[in-house]
Amino acid sequence: MGGERSKILVFGASGYLGTYMVKASASMGHPTYAYVRPVKPGSDNSKLALLKEFESMGVTIFQGELDDHEMLVSVLKQVDVVISTLAVPQYLEQLHIISAMKEAGNIKRFVPSEFGNEVDRVRGLPPFQALLDRKKKVRRETEAAGIPFTYVSANSLAAYFVDFLLHPHDKVDEVTLYGSGEAKAVLNYEKDVAVYTVKAATDARVANRVIIYRPQKNIVTQLELVSSWEKKTGRTLKRTHIPEEEIIKLTETLPFPDNVPAAILHNIFIEGCQLSFDLREDDLEASNLYPDYKYTSVDDLLNICLVNPPKTKLSTFG
Ligand SMILES: NC(=O)c1ccc[n+]([C@@H]2O[C@H](COP(=O)([O-])OP(=O)(O)OC[C@H]3O[C@@H](n4cnc5c(N)ncnc54)[C@H](OP(=O)(O)O)[C@@H]3O)[C@@H](O)[C@H]2O)c1
Repeated sequence: MGGERSKILVFGASGYLGTYMVKASASMGHPTYAYVRPVKPGSDNSKLALLKEFESMGVTIFQGELDDHEMLVSVLKQVDVVISTLAVPQYLEQLHIISAMKEAGNIKRFVPSEFGNEVDRVRGLPPFQALLDRKKKVRRETEAAGIPFTYVSANSLAAYFVDFLLHPHDKVDEVTLYGSGEAKAVLNYEKDVAVYTVKAATDARVANRVIIYRPQKNIVTQLELVSSWEKKTGRTLKRTHIPEEEIIKLTETLPFPDNVPAAILHNIFIEGCQLSFDLREDDLEASNLYPDYKYTSVDDLLNICLVNPPKTKLSTFG
């Protein structure tokens, strides 16, 4: 694979991260394929428009259900690498993909839908841990099926969390901070997450390995993020802190799935779990592995947000 073109199939292609992934793969010159759930004409115009845009980039679209085993096997036989960006509720649907990959027998690399914390090295409060456990199950099933893999720990998606914490679209004068605001997190821009993932998925050095996205310039605290934004915008933002006990209580009292975001915020911004372990010498870190790739630092992203904040799931859905 390394450096050559690979046929890359993306599941969850029309989703938030999936769109970045398809565009990265196609623009890096890989023959790119997208497996999407069937769309009825007129039923979802934005999805149809996106699929048209993919096609104009040379992407081949397959429309099928995730439990259509025969269809999955026939599509998988036409590609080399599979990247899944399926949504959180669909994590275990990836078991269908694993069993089809096992039958197809030709897949050189599978990247399951993770793109967050290193699930084998961190733990969260129960609602978040349940989600991490599902990702772990997909890892173990992939290994049991003997499918070559790359597990991606992308930490936090930067545009998404900058939107969530600073609301660059709305020019607010008040921000909410979780806990003291001093815990360090890693915020990686979605475009870089996609490029690093396509690079890693086609790189022999990352076969059957975990890769962690922890570039030095993307390690920040909430307080640092707010002060940088104040300097750039010239505005002073009122800070309201939600204490840890209150967040923990929300994770215990809110019904599922409303309790999940609170548990995620606790994990990332109060516990600081993304930086809770040191990288070992044999760990693979993306910016070390691909030093020539100029990633967008958090500071660069704030500059982009000053002019034209990227659309995220939050800004799209209001
Ligand atoms: N670390 C972070 O900060 C962070 C933030 C957000 C997400 N993530 C991770 O990124 C990955 C992708 O998340 P996302 O937010 O990009 O996902 P998403 O946009 O919610 O959905 C991705 C795709 O999943 C498919 N899907 C949705 N509902 C489905 C259903 N009922 N049945 C079958 N397929 C369905 C759809 O693909 P088709 O319609 O094309 O079939 C959808 O476009 C996840 O692993 C998530 O945990 C990480």
